[in-house]
Amino acid sequence: MGKVVIMDHPLVSHKLSIMRDKNTSVKDFRELVSEIGMLITYEATRDLPMTTKRIETPICEMDAPTLAGKKFAVVPILRAGLGLVDGVLRMVPSARVGHIGMFRDEETLIPHVYFCKMPKDIAERDVLIVDPMLATGGSAAAAIQEMKDRGCKHIKLMVLVAAPEGIKCIQDAHPDVDIYAGALDEKLNERGYIVPGLGDAGDRIFGTK
Ligand code: PRP
Ligand code: URA
Repeated sequence: MGKVVIMDHPLVSHKLSIMRDKNTSVKDFRELVSEIGMLITYEATRDLPMTTKRIETPICEMDAPTLAGKKFAVVPILRAGLGLVDGVLRMVPSARVGHIGMFRDEETLIPHVYFCKMPKDIAERDVLIVDPMLATGGSAAAAIQEMKDRGCKHIKLMVLVAAPEGIKCIQDAHPDVDIYAGALDEKLNERGYIVPGLGDAGDRIFGTK
């Protein structure tokens, strides 16, 4: 079974609390998505393969640890996932970016794919799918399946807020995928929103409501 890592870190919890507040401005909300994205990336990249490089410090020679340069791609689920890309790229500047467009039907909560554009060599890359919200898990599970259909073998999922229902959905459908979340909330409400959650992440990032 894949790992479930819930960030237990004061900076993440504090920033998430500001985001949850309904009075937080679009500007602040957007900046916080990016900042928390950066902090979770730190954890989600903990097992990146390393190598060493012979260098000379002002004092002596050493075999200095460096990233082995394994190919990496970040894949935001549009729209809201776009808010996390900048934070990931600040940590892994050489990452490629694939986009997958998906929306939930508000009645059925079933996700629909409307766009998918990936780097040509995506099957050879470690993939980090990003989306602020893991609610029923339908969107993330479908995005993971799209990546598997394109031959991807190493896939992780990064979200800001997860519901227990969403975690279970991913574990049932994709037990090989590790999940990294800023927080694990209580439940979903009758409209499929995370409780207490932070509302509609896409609308709050882009100011569309
Ligand atoms: C939101 C969110 C996730 C999805 C989570 O996107 O960003 O992609 O819902 O819900 P689920 O786990 O029940 O599938 P939404 O469909 O509202 O689209 P948007 O990003 O364009 O706002
Ligand atoms: N999508 C959101 O943006 N928020 C939720 O709480 C659930 C799904």
